[in-house]
Amino acid sequence: MEKILVLDFGGQYNQLIARRVRDHRVYAEILPYTAPLEEIKKRGYRGIIFTGGPNSVFDMSSPHYTADILSLGIPILGICYGCQLISYMAGGEVKTAPVSEYGKIEFTAKESKLFKNVPEKSVVWMSHTDYIATPPEGYDIIGTTFDCPVAAMENTKKDIYAVQFHPEVTHSEYGDRVLYNFLYEICHCKGEWVMDSFIDDTVEKLKAQIGDKNVILGLSGGVDSSVAAGLLSRAVGKQLTCVFVDQGLMRKDEGDFVEKTFTTLFDMNFIRVNCQEQFLKALKGVTDPEEKRRIIGTEFFNVFWDEIRKQNDKGYFAQGTIYPDCIESGKGDADVIKTHHNRVKTPEDVEFLGIIEPLADLFKDEVRRVGERLGIPRELVWRQPFPGPGLGVRIIGEITAEKVKLLQEADAVLRDEMAKNGYERELAQFFCVLPGVNTVGVMGDHRTYENLVAIRAVTTDDFMTADWARIPYDILAKVSNRITNEVKNINRVVYDITSKPPGTVEWE
Ligand code: XMP
Repeated sequence: MEKILVLDFGGQYNQLIARRVRDHRVYAEILPYTAPLEEIKKRGYRGIIFTGGPNSVFDMSSPHYTADILSLGIPILGICYGCQLISYMAGGEVKTAPVSEYGKIEFTAKESKLFKNVPEKSVVWMSHTDYIATPPEGYDIIGTTFDCPVAAMENTKKDIYAVQFHPEVTHSEYGDRVLYNFLYEICHCKGEWVMDSFIDDTVEKLKAQIGDKNVILGLSGGVDSSVAAGLLSRAVGKQLTCVFVDQGLMRKDEGDFVEKTFTTLFDMNFIRVNCQEQFLKALKGVTDPEEKRRIIGTEFFNVFWDEIRKQNDKGYFAQGTIYPDCIESGKGDADVIKTHHNRVKTPEDVEFLGIIEPLADLFKDEVRRVGERLGIPRELVWRQPFPGPGLGVRIIGEITAEKVKLLQEADAVLRDEMAKNGYERELAQFFCVLPGVNTVGVMGDHRTYENLVAIRAVTTDDFMTADWARIPYDILAKVSNRITNEVKNINRVVYDITSKPPGTVEWE
């Protein structure tokens, strides 16, 4: 399969570059700049993209690469820091720019394959303090801005191209076209990376690998494990056993929905372990948020692995690990290399033939596309993030069965109204929280002293920061009205207007 290497020099948009390439139907993988040249040669790439990075090429501790990479005969595109690095490696002059460029800047393009169908003047996104003062020998200037004499350059003999701007971000008007041109005009890709062929190829590979053995998968009801289950079911049917631990802290009817989906739409053995009672017993009297999380995590681990031990089947163990869980960062600092946090640890006494991770090459949006093609319902494929400890972190203080029920009912009303008003896909996340506070109210002629419920709704790109969603007042009014009327024991609804930071998305 044709592939592009995104060689990571530690910039912030590196996964975005790989995703944009894949949007153009070409498979891209990310390797840190520490990857040996021999390894790169072996993998047979169609093209290489050098990413941006936070450093200056003059800083000896900043990421560099052997200049031999420029002579492999593989087309290269350098972006931002990657552009300066090419110049530095090839003997051009890189300097601190007299004027740093940051943000949207007017760019003038010259004739080049890289700029086919890009107008002479367009807006690009810049973010740099160094610049190329003089390009290396053999390189021609193909783009300028007011303050940047070499905003793009090329060496057509070697098929090496470099741009100071960021084509991968949407602020660069024709950035997507530039990436397309690199892939199709320069690397001569064919565009083979499509989800239908991914499904067919993966199913064949899984069949060959699993043979007549069995495979076990932990299903959480989240997107990744659901899609992994769909793929494995298509490959090996009843040889697949999915274990779904329902700790009774999911949203209203969610456990039943997961069970119905996988028992009616897919061929597999489905085991649901209902253990709300056991979880609530372990959580009795516990109010500290971290302690609650720890207990829920430990109980989950115990219940899940006890069930697996009961199966006593030394087949394969499958997980819904996705590509971002596997990428080693190019920041070059061992401390910041991402740990594979979504990979489940297996206890020492449980043996398997091996681990299977059918989604390990996919980004989240690709996982969703595969899920849709496999016929997994939209509610699962487009499910909002849901914390591992479930409603446990949305009930402040001690968790009881009554509180879980109350919160589920209020949350169901909110979800219903959001769906009716088209907010389901527009907002990153919305949910109800039960703060464990009673307030005085009046109902008919009677005084009430009942629960307060809070609504949390956020917009965000990456969940590292978030803003509270500006839901129209009339929709909030409807939600409030319905919750106080339809859910017994709730007499007040408040809306959380805190961004992150200083608040987090969840309340615990
Ligand atoms: P915070 O509250 O940290 O949440 O701003 C950011 C995002 O992470 C989700 N979240 C979790 N996801 N296990 C998870 O898988 C957890 O323990 C957990 N805690 C928070 C949260 O819902 C939001 O999307």
